[in-house]
Amino acid sequence: MAYTPVAYPDDKPAFYQVLREQLALHLADAPTAVTALANASAVLSDALGDCNWIGFYLVRGDRLVLGPFQGKPAVVEIPYARGVCGAAWQQKATQVVRDVHAFAGHIACDCASASELAVPLFAADGRVLGILDCDSPLPARFDEKDAAEMDAIAADLASRIANLA
Ligand code: SME
Repeated sequence: MAYTPVAYPDDKPAFYQVLREQLALHLADAPTAVTALANASAVLSDALGDCNWIGFYLVRGDRLVLGPFQGKPAVVEIPYARGVCGAAWQQKATQVVRDVHAFAGHIACDCASASELAVPLFAADGRVLGILDCDSPLPARFDEKDAAEMDAIAADLASRIANLA
């Protein structure tokens, strides 16, 4: 399927509605979890302005390992509870970090990053499957409304990949 450029609305609820539709469209036929998350990172990166890194870390044992993403090369493994992503895993809670330099233990992958949103993907039994991580060069790029919308997107992604190899 050829990719048709999308005009995303400025209004936040309308923006996220179109984003969810685009994710559903481009993930519908994904045969594997990697395929689904690869297209998800591409759609999210195309949609979300002012972001320099968007992608996934996946739980493998006691670490997060780098999954599909858009952006500069990044750290390949993050131990449990380390960094913003590790905090999202440990606390099982989305992290809205308005200033990464004020976050103790932040792991800098792209030195352009100023703010960050890290969202857990939960299995049906409550385990964390992975983390959706978004970095921005702008301070305070993400707010609580973005976090709530991305929680819903992460829940949808988690249910999509749960049954894929
Ligand atoms: N900043 C993250 C590490 C991943 S990079 O941002 C892509 C963290 O502190 O967990």
